[in-house]
Formats: sequence, C-alpha cells, structure tokens
Amino acid sequence: MPARHPAVVDPPTRTHTGPDTGRTPDAAAGNRVGTVTSRPVRSPAMPRVFSGIQPTGDLHLGNLLGAVRNWVQDQHAADSFYCIVDLHALTVPKAPGEVGRSSLEMAQTLLACGLDPDVCTLFVQSHVPEHAELSWLVQCVTAMGELNRMTQFKDKSAKQANKTDLVSVGLFTYPALQAADILLYDTDRVPVGEDQRQHIELTRDVAERFNARFGDTFVIPQATIPRAGARVMDLQEPTDKMSKSAASDAGVVYLMDDLAVTAKKFKRAVTDSDGEVRYDPSAKPGVSNLLSILGAVTGRSAEELGEEYSQYGPLKADTADAVVELLTPIQQRFRELVEDPAGTSELLAIGAEKARAVAGAVYTRAVDHVGLLPRA
Ligand code: TRP
Repeated sequence: MPARHPAVVDPPTRTHTGPDTGRTPDAAAGNRVGTVTSRPVRSPAMPRVFSGIQPTGDLHLGNLLGAVRNWVQDQHAADSFYCIVDLHALTVPKAPGEVGRSSLEMAQTLLACGLDPDVCTLFVQSHVPEHAELSWLVQCVTAMGELNRMTQFKDKSAKQANKTDLVSVGLFTYPALQAADILLYDTDRVPVGEDQRQHIELTRDVAERFNARFGDTFVIPQATIPRAGARVMDLQEPTDKMSKSAASDAGVVYLMDDLAVTAKKFKRAVTDSDGEVRYDPSAKPGVSNLLSILGAVTGRSAEELGEEYSQYGPLKADTADAVVELLTPIQQRFRELVEDPAGTSELLAIGAEKARAVAGAVYTRAVDHVGLLPRA
C-alpha cells in the first residue's frame, strides 16, 4: 500500500530543478501509452504536481495572486501538469462553441501569466480521453452518499435549480472526474484553494478504496493549500473574496481590463472613515486588502507596508501603480498570443501528447488491475 500522507501540507519550500528523474514524459514518443508499470511511480526528488482550472470567464487579480502565480513558481520546482478542465465546465449548461472558445482564451491567459510550455505540461482535459475513461472506473468505486455530501455540489445544484436549469448527473459526479484527473498522473501534490479541500479528500478516499480492492494502483495525493495572505478581496465589498460572480464589476480587477479602468477601480476602492492606515483585516477590511495586494505584488509584508503609509490616497495610488506594472507585460503577451491562435493550439497539442504519455500508462495500469479482458 502507498504510504498514507497527511491530507494537507503547507506549500513546499522550493528546491531547484533536480536531475532528470526519468518521469518527465517523452513528448517525442507521441504514443498513446508511455511506460506501463504495474505499480505507481513516485519520485521524491521531483514531485509531481497537478492542478486544474475551469475555462469559464475571465481571470481576475484574485486568481492570479491566489493560484496562477503559485503555478508559475511551482513549474520550476516540480514536474507540473496544468489542465484546462473543459469537461468540468460542461456540468452546467453552456452554449455550443462557448467552452472551446474559452479554453483557447484560458490557455492564452495562462501562457501570458508565465506558464512555460517547455517547463510544465499545459493541456486541455478533453484532448486526453483517459480523463473521461478513468472517471468511469472511479465512479464505480464512489458512493452516492459521498458525492451527496460535497458542498460544491450542494451550492451549484441549488443555483441551477434557482435558474430552473436542470441539475445534471455530470454536476453530481464532477468529483469523480476530478479524482480521475489527479490520479492519472501519479500526482503527489495538488495546489488548490480551500474550497477544493473536500474534493481532494474524496480523491484520497476513493484511491485508497481502489488500491485496497485491486492492488497498489494509485499514488495517494496531498492537497497543498496556500496560506491565507494571497487572499484577494473585492475592492467594493472587502469582506467578500474577489469573485467573477460578484454583483458588480466595480470591485473586481480583471487581468485583461483596460489598465486605466484598473487604476480607477483602485482609486474608488472602499476604505473606511477613520483615516488610519494599518493592517487589520477584521477592523479595517478595505485598507487591509489594499495592503495585502500591494504586499503580494511587491513581495513585501502587508503589516510592514501599513506602517509606511499615513493616508489612503497614496496607498491607493501605489497599489494601482504596482498592479498596473504587474499586468502590463501580461496583457502585452496576451495580445501577441491572441494574434496567433494556431500557435497556442500547437502548444496545447504538444501538452496533450506529453500528458497522454503519462495518463495512458496509468490508465492501462488501472484497467490491468481491475482485470478487464485485454483486447487481442
Ligand atoms: N474543481 C476545481 C475547481 O473548481 C477544478 C479542477 C478540476 C481541479 N479538476 C481538478 C483542481 C484537479 C485540481 C485538480 O476549481
């Protein structure tokens, strides 16, 4: 049995890129199945990282500082697989063509933010059919009761029901597909937000169940949940997380917003009336949010920055400037990538091939262990 790790660990301290561990799939091989091994492959020197992001809507500053920036850093320290999970996006109704368009745009955005396809493996979920295939095997070892307890399902199904949209079976089995995503890569670590902790727990439970029933097949992954701090709040409702589902866009800084608009959003950010600059999220949520954004962008501590300002105006102006400086080159790269959609598609095809070399081998291992009749 694979060693039982604690479910959640702090983000790892970064190590330099180690020697070739033989785990990076050989893109040139281009075959469906890489090296099939009957046991899970683990490589402590070069941990395998997997994370997924839905191609829905535009990314905002909270996504960049809370998630994507960690991916960009992690790609150098780990054998990293980043997946645009288009199949997950289909669990709620989508217009024909919408998911494809937003998958391309998400890829362009992630590349613009610094994911390097020569360093990590960036791909689209539906380009690697083993995700859907393994999700079936996973569903067959997952209890309905387990899926019923998932808070994301409860929230999203309530929302669909309010909109009088159908609540799909896909929305219900979503966590089984997510588990398959992770397990297909012999994943050691899954960097996700706090809201995904329950799905990673489920992934571990079903992987252990599968291993117990069919023999050592899957690596048991751990969630790595970043410490608070990079939590970016809405500029108008600073007690709410910045979110694309906010009632108004005034407090949400989209990465691709016109930068003059971005600067204005900061100048109009909600503060309070006592006029004192200090990092104190519960008493002064608006001011503290500005300090933590400025801190996250400049790599300094929010508390320390709080001591350097005595007025809200200069704090807002400096935060706006720092964010504009961060986003300017990202927008520039994004525009270049948008000019050449075929170039991005080609990078995604290479990513899918690299992913498939690993996923195919793990899927074959799982099927072997289940003992389905091999095709002659
Ligand atoms: N469920 C995740 C979210 O909503 C997205 C996701 C799908 C994911 N598959 C994954 C995240 C695998 C991590 C690993 O954010």
